[in-house]
Amino acid sequence: MKTNTILSLKNFSVSVEKKKIIKDINFEFEKGKIYALMGPNGSGKSTFAYSITGHPAYSVEKGSEAVFEGEDIVNLSVDKRSVKGIFLSFQNPLSILGVKLRQFLYFALQGKKDPLTISQEIKKYAKDLKISDDLLNRSLNEGASGGEKKKLEVLQAAVLDKKLIIFDEVDTGVDVDALKTIAQFLRKNKTDKTYIIITHYNRILKYLKPDHVIVLNQGVIKKVGDHTLAYDIEKNGYGK
Ligand SMILES: Nc1ncnc2c1ncn2[C@@H]1O[C@H](COP(=O)(O)OP(=O)(O)OP(=O)(O)O)[C@@H](O)[C@H]1O
Ligand SMILES: [Mg+2]
Repeated sequence: MKTNTILSLKNFSVSVEKKKIIKDINFEFEKGKIYALMGPNGSGKSTFAYSITGHPAYSVEKGSEAVFEGEDIVNLSVDKRSVKGIFLSFQNPLSILGVKLRQFLYFALQGKKDPLTISQEIKKYAKDLKISDDLLNRSLNEGASGGEKKKLEVLQAAVLDKKLIIFDEVDTGVDVDALKTIAQFLRKNKTDKTYIIITHYNRILKYLKPDHVIVLNQGVIKKVGDHTLAYDIEKNGYGK
């Protein structure tokens, strides 16, 4: 294992409803790097994201290893993985009726960040992300547009201050200006975090300049390259 590895996957396989979706992935993600995870619809990108965060519907097969900061997390719950520093920004964020973003973050960060700091961070990040007060004061994601939901996901990821953040299509359904805002925000607040950006488009990657582009196809890593691979894919598709 490399010395700066944050997540090391060995023979990592995942099934959903008894169907094998992720097949024997071997890969090391390094600290502080940006990865783009691309691939056709249904290739297993969201399944990969859910299984790294510990979603119980996705069963990781025997013999799989996912070592995060030195510990195999395969049998850890979603909560424990979150405490260790893994965060997933959902492809389709859910609404939480009756709970505001602020309340949700106070609860999630109990004992780790005081409410005043959380409030200050929310205010600062919301300004950077151009999120309105009205949106902040509603129940989380209630009535939010697709693009607004994505911005709220990005804000949560920043306040929660995780180490490995997987953004599942954070750029989908986001207008050109919002996309630029989100991408610039992610770059500015990256510090030593590791990002895995699941995307279909090169446009967010033009701003984020990923260190590595990974192509998943039918649950297998088909290619790994630098940011130019995303250009090739945009131009030529995934091929056969
Ligand atoms: N809960 C489930 N039950 C049955 N099949 C599932 C379930 N979740 C995922 N799958 C199947 O697993 C495969 C991979 O799905 P996944 O959502 O991971 O793809 P994806 O690469 O994220 O696609 P997209 O680009 O469309 O978001 C698909 O064939 C999908 O139908
Ligand atoms: Mg998906």
